[in-house]
Amino acid sequence: MATLQQDPGDAYTTFWNDVLVPKFERFRNIMMTGLSLHSEVPLGRLALAPGARALDVGCGWGDTALELARKVGPTGSVLGLDCCDAFLEKARADAASEGLANVRFVAADVETYPFTPTFDFAFSRFGTMFFANPVAAMRNVRKALKPGATFMFIAWRTIDDNPFLGMPKQVVSRYLPPPGEDARTCGPGPFSMANPGTVTAQLRAAGFEMLDHVRVDGDVMIGADLAQAVDFQLALGPAGEIVREAGPAAEGRRAEIEAALRAALEPHARGDGVWMMSSSWTYTARNPW
Ligand SMILES: C[S@@+](CC[C@H](N)C(=O)[O-])C[C@H]1O[C@@H](n2cnc3c(N)ncnc32)[C@H](O)[C@@H]1O
Repeated sequence: MATLQQDPGDAYTTFWNDVLVPKFERFRNIMMTGLSLHSEVPLGRLALAPGARALDVGCGWGDTALELARKVGPTGSVLGLDCCDAFLEKARADAASEGLANVRFVAADVETYPFTPTFDFAFSRFGTMFFANPVAAMRNVRKALKPGATFMFIAWRTIDDNPFLGMPKQVVSRYLPPPGEDARTCGPGPFSMANPGTVTAQLRAAGFEMLDHVRVDGDVMIGADLAQAVDFQLALGPAGEIVREAGPAAEGRRAEIEAALRAALEPHARGDGVWMMSSSWTYTARNPW
């Protein structure tokens, strides 16, 4: 019988730390603009009582944790949790430079962190889709929540609803084979929570009640200019995964691929960068007990 060399959760968090963190850093201007669009609407509407305790899981650079910290005020508190300490160093520095003393950041795995039921609200923007075992992670998040408290999380809709990722994948697929079965990945993947039916079942299995799912659509900036947009697609997302997994074969065809991507992205270039359509769900669930 084959033996498991590494727990999938460990493999995913290692992949985040080794491969994705440096790439995310290179494209921080894109990630921050693109991702923040999808939390502006739900967090803009969210009312949290002053003094509330909030949790942000898979918080990355922590900008949403800081937003929650402003909402709960100095008598409240926020815990931002992420498996990559390199992201959290930036989060801590941003909190310090803003003088926010009511937020702290801890490097930990959301599936196993020893939560106690002390939080009034839990949040995740584009984190849950990457948790190795989403039901175990949700179940653990529920352990952090007081009875009746809500968990709001944002996840991409399907790849067809997100042409900023789907179209470059199609272009790159004309030149390179799909990633193999043993491709290194960052977890279940960006579209793993696109189906509200699947997510409802996952939430139920974790002991939550789904309250609603609200769609947010909008253009995202995928490059300050065409050169950065091409570079970004070749480094991250579904197109970047194909390139990474193809290794030397991709290097051999890089010039052709870059030219094809450039031509495909050019119609989306504007004075303020390259912009394409994106779409997400904001799921809200309740801890019933
Ligand atoms: C796409 S990023 C989103 C980051 C941030 N929420 C944002 O919107 O900018 C997904 C995040 O989930 C984190 N993550 C993945 N698996 C995790 C786990 N098991 N425990 C904690 N964090 C995890 C990654 O390190 C990464 O920062």
